[in-house]
Amino acid sequence: MSIGSGRGKTILFGEHFVVYGMPSVAAGISSVTIAKVSRTDSPGWTIDDRRPAVPGYKEKKLNEQRVSIDNIMQHVCVDLSTDGVYIELEGDLTCASGFGASAASCVAIARAMNEEYGLGLNDDEINRIAYEGERGYHGTPSGLDNTASTYGGLIWYIRDLSGGPPKFETLRLKKPMYLVIASTGLTASTTEVVGDVRAKKEKNPEWFSSIAKDYTILVHKARDALFSLDAIEVGKQMNRNHELLQSLTVSCDELDNLVTIARDNGAIGAKMTGTGRGGNQISLAPDEVTMIQIADVLKKSGAAFVQSTTFGI
Ligand code: MEV
Repeated sequence: MSIGSGRGKTILFGEHFVVYGMPSVAAGISSVTIAKVSRTDSPGWTIDDRRPAVPGYKEKKLNEQRVSIDNIMQHVCVDLSTDGVYIELEGDLTCASGFGASAASCVAIARAMNEEYGLGLNDDEINRIAYEGERGYHGTPSGLDNTASTYGGLIWYIRDLSGGPPKFETLRLKKPMYLVIASTGLTASTTEVVGDVRAKKEKNPEWFSSIAKDYTILVHKARDALFSLDAIEVGKQMNRNHELLQSLTVSCDELDNLVTIARDNGAIGAKMTGTGRGGNQISLAPDEVTMIQIADVLKKSGAAFVQSTTFGI
């Protein structure tokens, strides 16, 4: 039996914009998905998915998960036509839209297969295979989630629109920043939401390009502010990013409500994160005490799940 792991993530800047080649920033979080792979006598693969999850998540993603694992098996190039594998998924990463749970499971399974079959794959190859797995969940992922899940840390990521490898770098800050992640408990379909934004963009290119122009300015300001540890400015750009995501129509009442509660209770910036129309909201806190305070208030306000984390070092 062999074990592999993949990290959860949260997107600080650039969900949806990253799909169209604009820079994005994601942070790996401490929670992980663990995959255990054992060989069996029967062909193909079977799975026991014991990951913690918000209600309905696993059921909604079941068909996509099957396609994803088939893709991974195809790309690790292990012949499962006579002997097969039994996959167990566990770990402390809660499956809820916005935590990168699908990417984390792809990375974990690819790593466990690598160990079990002695494939000698490095992280870049694991990331490439996890990307193929992610395609099972949503046809044309930007690759941000699997990259954050493979490498962890704080990542500046740009998708190559001509199909080449993405450009990414790890940003290291001199001090950590404090973040609270709150889940609405609603599971969104990334394929549907990304497809809807694409349809709106195609129908009204001027509308999209004016929002995209504002986004490109803000993400570079955010990058500078992260390096100079100017949390107030980072928070300001998170607030602005949330407004732009509202303009793209990917926020929803539940997310906007969590954003307002967080800002009213000490967050210096708050936005939705990930696909939107459900999923998660993030709050930047000025310090650890305020981070705990924001997390408490969000829990009491009915967030389905709340997690505090640091990022940047
Ligand atoms: C989903 O976590 C992030 C999106 O930007 C889609 C993607 O990057 O593939 C909405």
